[in-house]
Amino acid sequence: MGVCMAPPIIAVANRKGGQGKTTVSVNLAAAFAEEGLRVLVLDMDSQANATRALVLGPLQGRGTTAHVIAGQVGLADIVIPSNREGIVLAPGHHELTGALMSIVGKIGRELILKREFATVTGFDVAIIDTPPEQQLGLVNSLVAASHILLPFTPDPNALEGMQTTMDAAAEIRAAGIASPSVLGCVQIAYDKRLVVTMEARNAVAERFGDLLFESVIRTNSNFLPCPAWNMDIFRYEEEHGRTIRGSEDFRSFAREALGRLGLSGTTKIAA
Ligand SMILES: Nc1ncnc2c1ncn2[C@@H]1O[C@H](COP(=O)(O)OP(=O)(O)OP(=O)(O)O)[C@@H](O)[C@H]1O
Ligand SMILES: [Mg+2]
Repeated sequence: MGVCMAPPIIAVANRKGGQGKTTVSVNLAAAFAEEGLRVLVLDMDSQANATRALVLGPLQGRGTTAHVIAGQVGLADIVIPSNREGIVLAPGHHELTGALMSIVGKIGRELILKREFATVTGFDVAIIDTPPEQQLGLVNSLVAASHILLPFTPDPNALEGMQTTMDAAAEIRAAGIASPSVLGCVQIAYDKRLVVTMEARNAVAERFGDLLFESVIRTNSNFLPCPAWNMDIFRYEEEHGRTIRGSEDFRSFAREALGRLGLSGTTKIAA
């Protein structure tokens, strides 16, 4: 008899911009889907880059996370199929910025997403792509999450972005609102020939210890066009890439992450 657990909800977060949050959200989701898991990707960034990568058709007239945050519709109402089998999408929109401003004075403003997640079923794992700014979008994501995944590049400011994300999580725990745990830290744009790569890796290992994932995502220009081409790295490399290194890296990383989550492609969670 299987134990009935809530599916994991992973917030991909780093308050420093350009650290690979969206790249990890989209491609980890694709790798999980390839393993046979039913994945929900929720876009909490007003830049909506994850939405651009995954959306199946035009969004006109459809509900987005902006409407959910503003309390106009429920999360279940905005979930749509994506361009990849196994992934459903709660799309983001630039109106999210305004929606987040509109809830600033509201009681329970940090809990909106958590409450909405409680109404959605039918997924084995959810991934939230979060914005770099410290605002209610990130807080709502961290409160809703069971796990926090911290991507980082060799940028020397990456660690500071990870630390301020941890500070936000600590405040949430201290307030007794939620207690997300850290799934781990994954290095993006890894190039072992560069001193900065190993410096960043060592600094994160020192701060986070075993939480640093062994798998890395190597530097790879194939990632750059993916959102604009409305593709994940698997499809892009299959159709246009000169190498399939990005796909290989995300497959390895997804297996390591599934191990930490205690999930595998064959043991789905009853929703
Ligand atoms: N392994 C890689 N090698 C080279 N470039 C990469 C790699 N992974 C991601 N990138 C590129 O780095 C840039 C930043 O990545 P991404 O958009 O995922 O970061 P982000 O943390 O979501 O940014 P933001 O804070 O703006 O939301 C993108 O142009 C992306 O294509
Ligand atoms: Mg992003």
